[in-house]
Amino acid sequence: MHTNPAYGKVILSGEHAVVYGKVALATSISLGVSAEVVSKEGDASELVKKAIEVAGGENRIQVKIRSEIPIGSGLGSSAAVSAATIKAVREYLGKPITDEELFNLIWEVEKTLSPNDSGLDSTIVTYGGLIEYRKGQPFKQLKISRPFKILLVNSGKPSETTGELVKMVADDPTKQVIVEKIGEVTKLIREKLVLGEEIFELLNQNGFLLEELGVVSESAKKLSRELRELGASVKITGAGGVANGSGMMIVAINDLTKITKLLDNKKIDYFETIIGEK
Ligand code: PMV
Repeated sequence: MHTNPAYGKVILSGEHAVVYGKVALATSISLGVSAEVVSKEGDASELVKKAIEVAGGENRIQVKIRSEIPIGSGLGSSAAVSAATIKAVREYLGKPITDEELFNLIWEVEKTLSPNDSGLDSTIVTYGGLIEYRKGQPFKQLKISRPFKILLVNSGKPSETTGELVKMVADDPTKQVIVEKIGEVTKLIREKLVLGEEIFELLNQNGFLLEELGVVSESAKKLSRELRELGASVKITGAGGVANGSGMMIVAINDLTKITKLLDNKKIDYFETIIGEK
């Protein structure tokens, strides 16, 4: 990675419910983004242009992005691209930036993509580690006594944006009951994590609740069923997706080889990550 890297994240639990003030748990992952100020005219996305603008770079600065994070798959790519861009621009301008300021600027960019954005991605990309987050409250870093491995499995690129999926849930008042349940499961997951107890079954419950919420596509549900039949716990991570893929899914099981064989046969992308390492 180049200078000023920023890292992606996974939401372990609490996506969507976090928009309504419920607790969420997220952790950074080792896939990163770097940004570099360059002299040549680049082909900047709206996101990068906005990030340059909020950092005070206006139109005169061009930035080159290198990213390992799949875009729009629930791994916090947009917040990480904003973070790396803002840090690169501020370094170029010789204006140091505090974490608090970085958080606020990333969030400003995130809100242009999803007006009700909870601030979760902006927090995790700024501070890293494993965090407990509630909108409008100071976040907490969690220490967990027993790190564990999960697989992140690619269920396919969503065709909806995070903003559209958040709005879909908001527009249907009957979904609030499910939001409450996600909040409760997330609290239980938090307790178990801190005690070093296994959370796989609770992750699976959360996965079913996200399906009920209507943010998981038919193809992702089918893959989840197949993986659950092999004994795995499955949930999407991030906003999800309805018409095509649902982005990345967390798949947890003690014997990962059972799952990886199936994924290899189906030529589905996946990678391993460790939760609670830092
Ligand atoms: O899919 P992502 O990485 O954009 O995560 C979205 C998380 C939501 O809870 C659905 C939205 C939010 O603002 O927290």
